[in-house]
Amino acid sequence: MYINQMRKNIAACLIIVVLALPAQSFGTNSGPVDGRVDELMSKMTIEEKVGQLNQLFYFTQFMKPEMVEPGIREGKIGSLLFVTDPAVINRFQKVAVEQSRLKIPLLFGFDVIHGFHTIFPVPLAMASSWDPTLVENVQEIAARETRAVGVRWTFAPMVDIARDPRWGRIVEGAGEDPFLGARMAAAHVRGFQGPDPSSPGRLLACMKHFAGYGAAIGGRDYDSAFISDAELYNVYLAPFKAAVDAGVGSAMSAYMNLNDVPATGNAFLLRDVLRRQWGFKGFVVSDADAVGSLVTHRFAEDKTDAAYKAITAGVDMEMSLPGPTGVGTAYATSLAKLVREGKVDKAHLDEAVRRILEAKFKLGLFENPYVDESRVATIHNNPEHRRLARVAAQRSMVLLRNEGNVLPFVKGDPKVSSVAVIGPLADSKRDIRGSWSFVDDMKSAVTVFEGIRAKVGPAVKVEYAQGVDIARVYPSRFEIFFGRRPAPWNDAQKREEFDKAVSLARSSDVVVMVLGEHEEMSGEAASQSTIDLPGRQLELLKAVSALGKPVVLVLINGRPLEISWAASNVPAILEAWHPGTEGGNAIADVLYGDATPGGKLPLTWPRSAAQIPIYYAHHTTQEPATDKNFTSRYWDIPTSPLYPFGYGLSYSTFKFSNLRVSKTEMRLGESVEVLVDVENTGRREADEVAQLYIHQRYGSASRPVRELKGFERVTLGPGQKKTVRFTLGKAELTYWSGAARAWVQETSVFDLWAGADSTAALTTTLRVVNR
Ligand code: NOJ
Repeated sequence: MYINQMRKNIAACLIIVVLALPAQSFGTNSGPVDGRVDELMSKMTIEEKVGQLNQLFYFTQFMKPEMVEPGIREGKIGSLLFVTDPAVINRFQKVAVEQSRLKIPLLFGFDVIHGFHTIFPVPLAMASSWDPTLVENVQEIAARETRAVGVRWTFAPMVDIARDPRWGRIVEGAGEDPFLGARMAAAHVRGFQGPDPSSPGRLLACMKHFAGYGAAIGGRDYDSAFISDAELYNVYLAPFKAAVDAGVGSAMSAYMNLNDVPATGNAFLLRDVLRRQWGFKGFVVSDADAVGSLVTHRFAEDKTDAAYKAITAGVDMEMSLPGPTGVGTAYATSLAKLVREGKVDKAHLDEAVRRILEAKFKLGLFENPYVDESRVATIHNNPEHRRLARVAAQRSMVLLRNEGNVLPFVKGDPKVSSVAVIGPLADSKRDIRGSWSFVDDMKSAVTVFEGIRAKVGPAVKVEYAQGVDIARVYPSRFEIFFGRRPAPWNDAQKREEFDKAVSLARSSDVVVMVLGEHEEMSGEAASQSTIDLPGRQLELLKAVSALGKPVVLVLINGRPLEISWAASNVPAILEAWHPGTEGGNAIADVLYGDATPGGKLPLTWPRSAAQIPIYYAHHTTQEPATDKNFTSRYWDIPTSPLYPFGYGLSYSTFKFSNLRVSKTEMRLGESVEVLVDVENTGRREADEVAQLYIHQRYGSASRPVRELKGFERVTLGPGQKKTVRFTLGKAELTYWSGAARAWVQETSVFDLWAGADSTAALTTTLRVVNR
């Protein structure tokens, strides 16, 4: 009896272990999956192979299953994106695995950028946390919620370096810096994929947009990028390389033209760099309709030529809207013919199919194609997810100004019996969430007005006035999800609402102004020529400030904005970005000191759009900018930014001291430890981000005046001191030299700085020698 029970237990354990085992881990190229892929491929017709390379959009909101089911049944569709209803996913999957000839499961993908059911801070905000572990935890939850509906693949992380805030997609990445960007990229990938994307609750990640998309000229989305090899390798490619090293399973080719060759037809990027140099083993999907767009780029003659150029360049899967034939636009219509005619090498088709089937096998889709619909609600409604969303938002905020320690407000302050919460973003559930929020429960998002009300309780009167509406120059890109924005106010309404807000401020003890941008004002296709506060927000801010009340400005936005007036006239400014579902609560936590801000800017904050491009890791010039004549300066505005990269205040104060290196001279290839002491000199526990910057004084090429090479966010109690350690070695000191046309580590003298932002003054040197 007992032995029988034991046997049963052991058998049960074995079953659990086998089920828990990934079908085969990603990042490897061979093994048992290979045999299964070979066997399957030997049975496939050319059309069935092409079908696996075909990914289509399906919008439940306005498409009918009958529009795609025949294609799935005939093996012409390998993947769908934007299906998020688990019942529809199971329905389509059933057609694939029970009614198609070869029973190959579909792979469902979706843009899970900063959350699925629970919305987390936008990626730019998450980068402001300078906390890769937080990012990892956030994406683990996002993956769990997504996987619950049967989606197995996210089109994230976006790891494009962005140095031009006119480009709306700056909100989707980690800002301007390759080192921070690389750390964030790896964290996102680890969070989504975990030890293996097939493990329970995980997703296949997709790094995008490969590569150079953030360098669009003029900050205009989709525009061309012209990037030197040195800048490409040292800056734009660094986060992609980090994602590959972290085991990312797929990549998305970008829309834009890079140095005359569109990224989706760019064999240098997709074959030389990605495959040969980096050994990437996953598969490449095009951005939406990017294969067809090779014609628009005047790179391909027609759709057939586009298919030829994309597949030979190394694009494995084409993402597109259903084309004229009901399936894809380029591959689906011409690839089979191209292969039959011998124009596309069969080997190119086969390698693409192999990579996609390999991913499907490794994800365990052949064994477990369906999703358990009954578990979705339980997984989604986990209070732990909301808790993490709140912490993530708290940790992402950046305190830009706090004159006279206006913040934190004191809860229960007898002098404050009323708070005015004013501005077009103050009570907007839609905008608190950010640009990639589609399938969450918008109603459950917490606005700033709601967060403050909940924080102070009924004893304090909290009132709201919108004050101004933000001129609607943007068509709402995703009206199918959210509906239209209300019509703009007429002149009488404008006057009335403005006055109402000012008089509310007048009758209140404290004013919180919540200004910034609608969620659709950043993100895809949301470029701007200026970075001004949209509409009449500045006018409202000035009118309210003139009342002489304590005013705090909270910014909800996806890019740095022109806030020079506020930066010298409003005592406190808190950058909250689009902080997500729990944003309003988190902002209230920070305003009332239940959380202490510790985020830092992942970008250089310009004074105005006229300074763009402006980034800290620029090169020195023949005449570095000073306030003198004949230097690299503007005469009409200062050359310095409003806030430097890495900047952010706290409710406490910190002191950096004792910067030292374990040895002041080292040989090429060796490493040193760089140590610096950080002390909390204030009276409350708080976080500081210790940052290490370097500068190579001379070499085969000029190097930027400063480059971030290490950071750590530390929590210190009042008076507590900690030594932070960084390693500087070959990895950190090697760069791609445009002169040597190679990766080099050179003998030179290096200046090192450590401190709280990119203007840190504490400095020492390190000599690298050849002996
Ligand atoms: C186009 C966007 O550029 C890309 O980021 C996104 O993943 C796809 N559309 C799919 O939605």
